Amino acid sequence: MDNTNSAIYGVVGNPISHSKSPSIHQAFSLQTKQSIEYKPFLVAVESFEQAIADFITSGVSGVNVTVPFKEDAWAVATKLSKQAKLAGAVNTLSFKDGEIFGDNTDGIGLVSDLKNNHGFDFSGKKVLVLGAGGAVRGVLGPIILEKPASITIANRTLSKAQQLTQIFVDDFSISSTEYADLDTSYDLIINGTSASLNNELPPIPDVVVGSHSVLYDMMYSNQTTTFNQWGQALNAGNTIDGLGMLVEQAAEAFYIWRGIRPVTNEVFAKLRNQ
Ligand code: ATR
Repeated sequence: MDNTNSAIYGVVGNPISHSKSPSIHQAFSLQTKQSIEYKPFLVAVESFEQAIADFITSGVSGVNVTVPFKEDAWAVATKLSKQAKLAGAVNTLSFKDGEIFGDNTDGIGLVSDLKNNHGFDFSGKKVLVLGAGGAVRGVLGPIILEKPASITIANRTLSKAQQLTQIFVDDFSISSTEYADLDTSYDLIINGTSASLNNELPPIPDVVVGSHSVLYDMMYSNQTTTFNQWGQALNAGNTIDGLGMLVEQAAEAFYIWRGIRPVTNEVFAKLRNQ
């Protein structure tokens, strides 16, 4: 591909060397014949705002934002999408016409993966979400748009789950609970805690898993995640990890930037086999 006039994008994080986003976006650009460059940008924790100013000056068109900068990206944006406002965090910035547009495609990524790649129909389903940090806040809005019957948020620190439910409770059947008080099974159980990062499991009672339950770990790994191992041992209906969500959120970001939606299944298969 001739890169002479390529638009430049990238992913900003710290650390960043492990990021799969450059290979995902390179695959999207080849597939859609869009001439873009996509680079990993390592930014010092205190230097996010300056880095964004430098990107704009040097002609970068947009960046994805990952840990630990999603809230900084929200703060630096001059215009926010509805999802970014609700999420309180931004994973996609676009620099255009003197504005910094902030969007959040994580929730759409999760919903697209479940619906389009796994045939999951949210309507009328009972959803349990584990965790109440930034990752969970980012996905609640798009899940609610799919009209499940209810969402229950369980978190180790109950007050954080209560704060999250307050954001949505006027429009939707959403509640919070201690893990120990869970006493029934759910159709969809989403692990949005960072426990899997340490190969730990949230203190969740087995009763939440039935043979109809779909378990979704927002984390991904080369091996089955601790959460999904737990679900498989309990004969859950299906266990899915977050690799598909990663590819789908990237596709949505690519669409925001380029106005063309890449096909994701080949890219997903390539990553899974790596
Ligand atoms: P992120 O941006 O990834 O969401 P975060 O905002 O630090 O990160 O949130 C991490 C979430 O994982 C929190 O809900 C946290 O629970 P607390 O609010 O009680 O801290 C949850 N978490 C992390 N490790 C956990 C563990 N071992 N068991 C249960 N929950 C855990």
